[in-house]
Amino acid sequence: MRTQVGIIGAGPAGLMLSHLLHLQGIESIVIEDRSREYVEGRIRAGVLEHWAADLLDETGLGERMAREGLMHGGINISINGALHYLDFKALTGRGIMVYGQHEVVKDLIAARLAAGEQIIFGVKDVRVEAIDSKQPVIRFTTNGKASAIACDFIGGCDGFHGICRPSIPEGALTTFERSYPFGWLGILAASPPPDHELIYAYHDRGFALFSMRSPSVSRLYLQCDPEEHIAAWPDDRIWDELHTRLGDKQRSRLAEGAVLQKGITAMRSFVVEPMQYGRLFLTGDAAHIVPPTGAKGMNLAIADVVVLARALKEFYRTGRNDLVQQYSSACLRRVWKAQRFSWYMTSMLHRFHNDNPFDQRRQLAELDYVTSSEAAAKALAENYTGLPMEGSVRYLIV
Ligand code: FAD
Ligand code: DHB
Repeated sequence: MRTQVGIIGAGPAGLMLSHLLHLQGIESIVIEDRSREYVEGRIRAGVLEHWAADLLDETGLGERMAREGLMHGGINISINGALHYLDFKALTGRGIMVYGQHEVVKDLIAARLAAGEQIIFGVKDVRVEAIDSKQPVIRFTTNGKASAIACDFIGGCDGFHGICRPSIPEGALTTFERSYPFGWLGILAASPPPDHELIYAYHDRGFALFSMRSPSVSRLYLQCDPEEHIAAWPDDRIWDELHTRLGDKQRSRLAEGAVLQKGITAMRSFVVEPMQYGRLFLTGDAAHIVPPTGAKGMNLAIADVVVLARALKEFYRTGRNDLVQQYSSACLRRVWKAQRFSWYMTSMLHRFHNDNPFDQRRQLAELDYVTSSEAAAKALAENYTGLPMEGSVRYLIV
């Protein structure tokens, strides 16, 4: 097989890259090691920054999002049960879109297939070759048969545990990393959320987040020990802890319902520099991970591929190579700001088991500041709703 851009991974990054390239008349093939059912059912992030929602809309993917997505004008911050609203619309003129990552993935897969493009699911033994040449190759097996894609460029969109990053020679990448002494226990529940907008809850017993996927389905998270086994969290314990951290003593604000899914996710901050080597470009989680408190993971993945699609468009249209060469530095400016913000939200809202009373007082002062100062609230709102994309997104698609 031969194509212009070979893409490894059918997550938001790989699928959006293929979609944006298609709009420029650039061919691609996506390969994915899981099944279509698996990637379409994988519950992960839920918040789209305002420009990312506009991008979906402007590139023909907005129909279901307009019907089923929830436009939010702000978020609530709960401090030991007391609720404070940060009005993003009033502070920045912008809101956010709550629309599950798996819904974005479903819409992208449908659009790729409708355009007659190839996504090969269930591949195995993926490896890349000749990435520092002008003719890189992706090798894999599909249905037990060896196969290969010869291409001009490779999109390394295979997430944190993929093969692309480790295929880059040791010594070419620098890693920056930080781990956190907690994880998130996440559940999807058949119950209405306690508020029509998100609640980020600081509580002496630990952080909790009250989000949703629809008016009748909640997505709820609890700070927990990352080593803890899910069996230690029967449903009753989860609901008790959610009521407590919301400050819901009467158990009247949070409705309980069937738990449809649950899992524990560890947290880390991680960046590799540069995000490219030869003709292999790392995008999204393959290049960086943020703790989820700032709702940045999926947005950063989409931002990377906007930059990459724009660079490849220039390459194929005019032969210009400079944007391709600057891919990593263009992305990293945004990546590091998202790292900073995700770290800030995480350290403001979680309990650290080793914190001393000074740090806890400082944390409460930070929460008091952000919920009482317009300047502080505006900085949070600007980052949460999404820093401006360099150059217009529209430029990419006209
Ligand atoms: P991915 O979505 O990971 O996609 C990579 C794809 O590559 C996957 O489909 C994978 O199956 C495939 N792949 C891997 N290896 C290979 C291979 N060798 N060959 C072919 N294909 C391969 N972010 C938030 O903001 N909020 C959240 O609540 C949140 N929750 C999360 C929960 C979990 C369990 C995880 C893991 C992440 C969560 N994130 C969250 C982060 C967010 O979902 C990611 O940032 C986002 O998925 C990044 O998209 P991506 O396309 O870069 O990577
Ligand atoms: C969701 C996840 C997040 O990490 C976040 O910060 C906000 C919302 C969600 O899954 O809905």
